[in-house]
Amino acid sequence: MSKALKDKILQLKKERQAIILAHYYQIPEIQEIADAVGDSYNLSKIAQGCSEQVVMFCGVRFMAESAKILSPEKTILLPAANAGCPMADMAAYEDLLELQKEHPNAATVSYINSSTEVKAISDVCVTSSSATKIIENLNVDEIIFLPDKNLGGYIAEQFPNKKFIFWNGYCVVHSRISPEDVLKMKDKIKDIVVLVHPECEAPVRKLADFIGSTGEIIKHATESSSNNFLIVTEEGVIHQLKKHNPDKNFYIPGEGMTCVNMKKTTLKNVYEGLLNMQHQIEIDEEIRIKAYNALNNMHKLSR
Ligand code: 13P
Ligand code: SF4
Repeated sequence: MSKALKDKILQLKKERQAIILAHYYQIPEIQEIADAVGDSYNLSKIAQGCSEQVVMFCGVRFMAESAKILSPEKTILLPAANAGCPMADMAAYEDLLELQKEHPNAATVSYINSSTEVKAISDVCVTSSSATKIIENLNVDEIIFLPDKNLGGYIAEQFPNKKFIFWNGYCVVHSRISPEDVLKMKDKIKDIVVLVHPECEAPVRKLADFIGSTGEIIKHATESSSNNFLIVTEEGVIHQLKKHNPDKNFYIPGEGMTCVNMKKTTLKNVYEGLLNMQHQIEIDEEIRIKAYNALNNMHKLSR
């Protein structure tokens, strides 16, 4: 890491009284400069609860937008303005309205990986670490779940008495993994423990020893007495895994477990973002208030 650039960022951070948050999929240099590194759920809580009024959110757009929805009084900066999430873009507001008309009794549960417009017409948001608890606390029999059909499928398996209506969305990174990729590694390293993100497809999830969010995968591997782990999620999590477990071995199946959008954030654009206070998240107040309900319900129902 360029020490001079890192020092300049830390100095500017002090001047702007800012906090830097980073998702586990960010490049190691960004994770190292952040005040907190976390999964989607924890980062949304930190962004809302922190005393700093300027939040530099190193992740993708829906994460920074969620922070703004929850804390409109704060200045939320997205360092790489074009860092989006292809899965969030798979669910359009108008299409959701149509589906809701077809299922008037269903509650709409949207993954936090969705647009502000979609959140505005959702009853509650979920993340991969909070979804099970939220559905447990949600007193409804019929659920429209979007955009991720894989996370939706994973949750539905745990609630066989509820009716789920799925969306045809998916993560372009996690759906690249095939069961064969996992089986090859299991064959090579006999005692390997398979840790899988719920955004993976069902045949891959079936091969898992543990399924959880990025944060839960890191916690599970750190607390485990095993030594060899197959990490079936975006490769950015390896940085924290190695940092906390220098003596354990971590493997990624197949190739291409890299989210190009998560990798768009660089130290240079964190520096420029703080220097120019640029790429501030702005949200129309009418839509924000509606989307706030869905995110606020997420925090309420995940307790
Ligand atoms: P989590 O950090 O909640 O596991 O989410 C993963 C993800 O895909 C974020 O884009
Ligand atoms: Fe979106 Fe998948 Fe990238 Fe997460 S890893 S930001 S869900 S494309």
